[in-house]
Amino acid sequence: MHKIAVVPGDGIGPEVIHEGLKVLNALAENYSVKFDFNTLEIDSERYLRTGKLLTSEDVEELRKHDVIYLGAVGDYRVPPGVLEKGILLAMRFTFDQYVNYRPAQLWRPFGRLKRDVDFKIDVYRENTEDFYIGAGGRFNEGAGSMTLDIERELYDLSIDIEASASNTDDYAFEIGIMSRKNIERFADYVIAQAKLAGEKKITVVDKANVLSNIYHLWREVWDQKCKEASMELSYMLVDAMSMALVKNPDKFRIVATPNMFGDILTDLLAEVTGGLGLAPGGNINPNGLSMFEPVHGSAPKYKGLDVINPTATILAAKMLLDNLDHRDLGTKVEQAVRATFDRGIYTQDLGGKARTHEFGDAVVSALRKM
Ligand code: NAD
Ligand code: IPM
Ligand code: MN
Repeated sequence: MHKIAVVPGDGIGPEVIHEGLKVLNALAENYSVKFDFNTLEIDSERYLRTGKLLTSEDVEELRKHDVIYLGAVGDYRVPPGVLEKGILLAMRFTFDQYVNYRPAQLWRPFGRLKRDVDFKIDVYRENTEDFYIGAGGRFNEGAGSMTLDIERELYDLSIDIEASASNTDDYAFEIGIMSRKNIERFADYVIAQAKLAGEKKITVVDKANVLSNIYHLWREVWDQKCKEASMELSYMLVDAMSMALVKNPDKFRIVATPNMFGDILTDLLAEVTGGLGLAPGGNINPNGLSMFEPVHGSAPKYKGLDVINPTATILAAKMLLDNLDHRDLGTKVEQAVRATFDRGIYTQDLGGKARTHEFGDAVVSALRKM
């Protein structure tokens, strides 16, 4: 019995999770696997009602599970950042999910490139540091002081800031921070995954030509780790990488990126594979509680219309199964998605006519025929 915490979240989150659960339930009916789903209300509705974001009771409850299955958070009634940082990033940081694995494969015939090149890129995004660390603030009237406290599984960090400007303008800042130990464990994980996949080379993204303090430390670690592991390493600056992922995605196989660039590049890459509705991701703690979700957000304008694409969330269920060591079942889910597309069934973002629930039903029926 696998205990799965389900957090449907906001916007289209509950709809896509509904389809993902259909698929997992169909597996439980047909194969010897059992799930105990526990749905938790950690979302905008609860926040608007009670003011609660991720609470310590939530954390305690979530910890009782083997894995978390998340829809998305984000609601136009709440200022940007409140739910995203207070729920989603809080979960990634609290559970020390330091790797965000976002595989991106071409889904024919939906690829958006003019040339028909095949590709499958495993993007590994650092998931707890960088410009997401949460060290920022404002100085109004050009002066002030503050202490920034950062808590991670690896460390507690306190930074004192004192500012005084020559004028009385308002200033705001956001500090990017990386630590050697975190980069090391992230690089170790990516290198191990690259080896498991039989790959000899990793492309490492950054902006070391401008943000040279943070990304020189990043490169120091990558240089050392790849040398020790006899792994070939190639650096790409993020601007050139954005271009290259559109021009020649087939040149890349394993990509490692800092947190913020990884956020941007994986939306771009999702579009290249066929659309954001196809892209799954996993927030991985290799020794702890991991969380699987689509790369996309809560797309509030499509909420409740039964039109959006649940594929990303269904493929996130595939990644969740892989994580629970049911790779055989994970493969079946992917094959069922492929078979459904091959029958000409897909949602409107891909040019099809299927409603959200019809697509989920079709994947379930493909699974039953396997
Ligand atoms: P979004 O990813 O929600 O949607 C952007 C656009 O992508 C949509 O308008 C739609 O055209 C398309 N799209 C997304 N998912 C789709 C699907 N399943 N099927 C078909 N088309 C799909 O990004 P946004 O509009 O910038 O953000 C909306 C909210 O979601 C914000 O509050 C944001 O902070 C939040 N967000 C949350 C997560 C998360 O929880 N993991 C991720 C990204 C954004
Ligand atoms: C994602 C999202 C999140 C991120 C936001 C909502 C905090 O865009 O999962 O890609 O930036 O990581
Ligand atoms: Mn994103």
